[in-house]
Amino acid sequence: MLSSLILHDFRCFERAEFIPSPGLNLISAPNASGKSSLLEAICVLLRLQSPRAGALAETIKHGAAGFTLRGKTDGRELKCHLSREEGRQLLLDDVPQRKSDEYLRVGLVAFFSNEDIELVRGTSSKRRRFLDFLGSQCDVGYLKNLRAYERALRSRNFLLKEGPHRGKELSAYDGPLITAGDYLAKVRAQLCEELAPAVAKHVGAISTRGEATTLRYERSGGPDFAAALAGSAGEERRLRQTVVGPHRDDMALELDGAAAVSFASEGQQRTFSLALRLAQADLIRTSRGAPPIYLLDDIFGELDPHRRRRLLSALPADSQRILTTTTWQWLDETAAEPQHWRIEDSRVVSA
Ligand SMILES: Nc1ncnc2c1ncn2[C@@H]1O[C@H](COP(=O)(O)OP(=O)(O)OP(=O)(O)O)[C@@H](O)[C@H]1O
Ligand SMILES: [Mg+2]
Repeated sequence: MLSSLILHDFRCFERAEFIPSPGLNLISAPNASGKSSLLEAICVLLRLQSPRAGALAETIKHGAAGFTLRGKTDGRELKCHLSREEGRQLLLDDVPQRKSDEYLRVGLVAFFSNEDIELVRGTSSKRRRFLDFLGSQCDVGYLKNLRAYERALRSRNFLLKEGPHRGKELSAYDGPLITAGDYLAKVRAQLCEELAPAVAKHVGAISTRGEATTLRYERSGGPDFAAALAGSAGEERRLRQTVVGPHRDDMALELDGAAAVSFASEGQQRTFSLALRLAQADLIRTSRGAPPIYLLDDIFGELDPHRRRRLLSALPADSQRILTTTTWQWLDETAAEPQHWRIEDSRVVSA
């Protein structure tokens, strides 16, 4: 649970403070007032990752040298500073952290946004990102292996781009690539197996049509990564890049037996993506023994009244929920004692 957040030179906020309540927080403000930025700040502070920015430096306020985010969560103090010149600095309970491992063990997040529909209809990179975000919160070794995989992949692709004369050096990176790649694929496949029933349950609860869902991990070169890598040597020389491995894998989603990406209606795709996010949060809770903070960025506008109510009641009452919208006029009495907030002149004020 997040008990305080202080933002400094983050997006449109020069300096702002937010003291969320432990339960349901509803933030309403007009367009471009900083709603998404506020939720993004929470995600960056707790997970060191932005749900929308490619590079974290994009979130530094225009004209500022760097941002600072500070917050308290479950009695721990987190501070993340990013400077354009000097890079990132992390403090956990005032102790500088050279690595992010221990820091990242503190906060758990489930982030919902309108772009989530891309999980269903977008490219496979969106689904891999989803699995990586989940894996890094559920599995202790995930992030370390992801970084090792990315390093080995970059080096291999660099050599492949250079041309055939660097071919002999490639094999030095095969070992690290296979070790880390097998680790990632194993965790991702396991996560998909656990996600499947949770997604089916949530689709059943949100939708009125009772569609059947399937979800499975698909490895780009088949189950044996080492063999697939060896077998793709010709193709990778031709295309000058590594063509099999977890960076090409996918999570296949089906609705009533057909690929959701091509056959589901927009409403069905939205329901599926919502169910994926809800299931993601369930898995984090199961594996870590505590619910994540639910951050929902302005997604209610896209839903019909029935699905709005279903979604609100699907968020566990014992979790901290921080929701944004331009208006809560549709909200009825069923939402139990929410704390209301507004954003005015880049300040978060109680409403
Ligand atoms: N790096 C930055 N520095 C300064 N301002 C920024 C930066 N990035 C975005 N902004 C501005 O911050 C403001 C708030 O953006 P944000 O996306 O948080 O608004 P929002 O309340 O979510 O709006 P909407 O309802 O349209 O989604 C916008 O005016 C945007 O242009
Ligand atoms: Mg927004």
